[in-house]
Amino acid sequence: MTTIEAVAGQAFGAEVTDIDLSVPLSPTEVGELRDALPRHRALRFPDQKIQPDDFVRFSMIFGRPHPHVLEHLRLEGHPEILLLTNIVEDESKPNGHNGAAFWHTDNSYEPDHASATMLYARSVPVQGGETYLCDMVAAFRDLPESRRRFLEGLTVRHRYGNRDAGAEHDAGKLKPEQKARVPEVEHELVKRHPVSGEKCLYAVAASARGIVGMPNDEATALLDELKVHCTQPKYTITQHYRVDDLFIWDTMVTMHAAAVMDVASNQSNTRIMHRISVKGYPGASGYAASQAV
Ligand SMILES: [Fe+2]
Repeated sequence: MTTIEAVAGQAFGAEVTDIDLSVPLSPTEVGELRDALPRHRALRFPDQKIQPDDFVRFSMIFGRPHPHVLEHLRLEGHPEILLLTNIVEDESKPNGHNGAAFWHTDNSYEPDHASATMLYARSVPVQGGETYLCDMVAAFRDLPESRRRFLEGLTVRHRYGNRDAGAEHDAGKLKPEQKARVPEVEHELVKRHPVSGEKCLYAVAASARGIVGMPNDEATALLDELKVHCTQPKYTITQHYRVDDLFIWDTMVTMHAAAVMDVASNQSNTRIMHRISVKGYPGASGYAASQAV
């Protein structure tokens, strides 16, 4: 029977064992995982021996796999999978290295935001290569009630990339035709999770560029203040990886950042991860109907 255990001494996150992701899961297992993800925010499945097809099948438990806008980083034969690595074979071909080394929320620059993101560790450096995550439900819950009410009425303007001017790390550059596919979008600053019903602050870093009806300097100051609030150590975990770990997080109720890495020079400092982001909430009522439209 599958075991789902909160990681002791950590703000959030659980470890899932006694489960084999190389074979289709039973309806019971699927139900347990759909329930556990929003509750624990992040789940680690250690020692999984899976192939890309298995990874895609697993991802569909949590939503529709969504190929990334950066086509050149997609895994050959599996466009749903994004290849994340610090191997640089050709300096003229950007590989997205350190393209996630800042607090952000995957796909917050799109109208239909990502619901879950998952990484499968193929090669892990001896040191570094971690993912930092923060809990946006707890961060919202801890604010004074009057502050929560004020924030709930706000709408944020989002655009691909990192809003911090002159930031050392930014998302991979888009070609003009890619840029045209991700125009500016708006999201509520406070969202309610479709499965758990919990409210969270949503994507206050990186793609968040401004607030509707608020002067730019005021909006940036507010978003910066919220980013600092959400990323306090008490809301944050650091995920270390071992080879064959599958790690998934609830994208809407967290923000994350990759640890900065040097370019790989040998096996001991090489990081290779397969990533899938999914959209939609199969565990929420009305999902099947919304898929039929
Ligand atoms: Fe990311």
